[in-house]
Amino acid sequence: MTLEKLYQDHIALRQEKLAEALQSAAFDGLVLSSGEPFTYFADDREAPFYSSGQFGHWCPLKGPHHLLELRPGQKPKLIRYAPEDYWYEPIALGTPFWLAEFELVEVAAADAVWEALGRPAKTAYVGSETARAESAGLTVQPEQLVARLDWDRAYKTDYELRCLDEASELGAKGHQAAKAAFESGASELEIHYAFVEAVGVPEEDLPYTTIVALNEKSAFLHYHAKRGARDGHVLLIDAGAACDGYASDITRTHVRAGCDPRFGAIRDGMDTLQKELCSAVKPGLPYGDLHQEAHLKIAALLKASEILDVEAEEAVARGLSRPFFPHGLGHHLGLQVHDVGGHLADATGRVAPPPEEHPHLRNTRTIEARHVFTIEPGLYFIEMLLRPFREGEASSHFNWSLIDELAPFGGVRVEDNVVVTEDGHRNLTRAFLAS
Ligand code: GLY
Ligand code: MN
Ligand code: MN
Repeated sequence: MTLEKLYQDHIALRQEKLAEALQSAAFDGLVLSSGEPFTYFADDREAPFYSSGQFGHWCPLKGPHHLLELRPGQKPKLIRYAPEDYWYEPIALGTPFWLAEFELVEVAAADAVWEALGRPAKTAYVGSETARAESAGLTVQPEQLVARLDWDRAYKTDYELRCLDEASELGAKGHQAAKAAFESGASELEIHYAFVEAVGVPEEDLPYTTIVALNEKSAFLHYHAKRGARDGHVLLIDAGAACDGYASDITRTHVRAGCDPRFGAIRDGMDTLQKELCSAVKPGLPYGDLHQEAHLKIAALLKASEILDVEAEEAVARGLSRPFFPHGLGHHLGLQVHDVGGHLADATGRVAPPPEEHPHLRNTRTIEARHVFTIEPGLYFIEMLLRPFREGEASSHFNWSLIDELAPFGGVRVEDNVVVTEDGHRNLTRAFLAS
């Protein structure tokens, strides 16, 4: 199917869902804005600009100040901010694949965008330009409507899956280049640039800041420093690419000569258990159950590696796997890397919070077809989390001398992106990147 047709179907479904959402929240229309740029305090420097996810769900047009006016039964109106400028290059619209779905209005100033909108009645607004929206008489961020839109974003259309596939393919290219750089002894900074160069975009066009960690730094879950020392024994790289706003979020851990073989075995064990967790993905399973299963598998790996001397079930029951695996198994993925709606219990906005003992679990939904999420188990040697166990009743179950020998190698994480099918899953990542 052509991209144009996929997009047309995507918009047709958006229209259907919008009509239901507006009716249930008693609005006649919805206005979405791409957003306004963020400027640092007392500075004229702007942060890189990213459109809001709600806007991106309808339109891949980049840049700030654009508005969409959506009304059931009417062609969506795109009011495009298209200034003439010589400080910054105005990006020409061209003839993108999505253009036919919109009634296009072009204006040259941010104020004129809102003038072109006017003051539509019984209309909601979702976006960051709240002062302008209030002046236009719109109802800003109505909770029930936003919850419903967020809920719907979890079900990816074929158009979105095409974007996610491309983002995966591109991310995999970056990972292959990064692995080769690591194997030749490159530094964190050099590995980062190998990734960026292979993806072929400026780094601010990546969906998130790359995590490129050698050795013990891989135990910082979101390590960003990118230092210059070469010849690491372990590389943990968590990096993705984007396609029309949709992200891939991929982690691989590689080992090299000089790495303790016992750490290498943990890496291999993690790769195996991660694939088993992916295989378990199917509609009807609460994602929280899969997170629990990850703890059991990681506890079994800790036992097999002689780091813990208790069986998996008991280790999990006593919370002994938690210092080694302190984050959630994964999160929804789409226009946002940590996509919206992961804690919603239903479309009305009822919240399903994570369990008290797993506060960082970002997905508490029951798995359904067309959900796209990550599966990213990890095992790390993090002293601040292990310290409380060094004393006390559970201490004797930990092999502290082995932990201290392996700590310089940091940690292991393996992360793939999967789409849920009618009876299982499809792995978006492994199609392009074996391990
Ligand atoms: N890259 C951030 C995460 O995996 O959640
Ligand atoms: Mn990641
Ligand atoms: Mn992730």
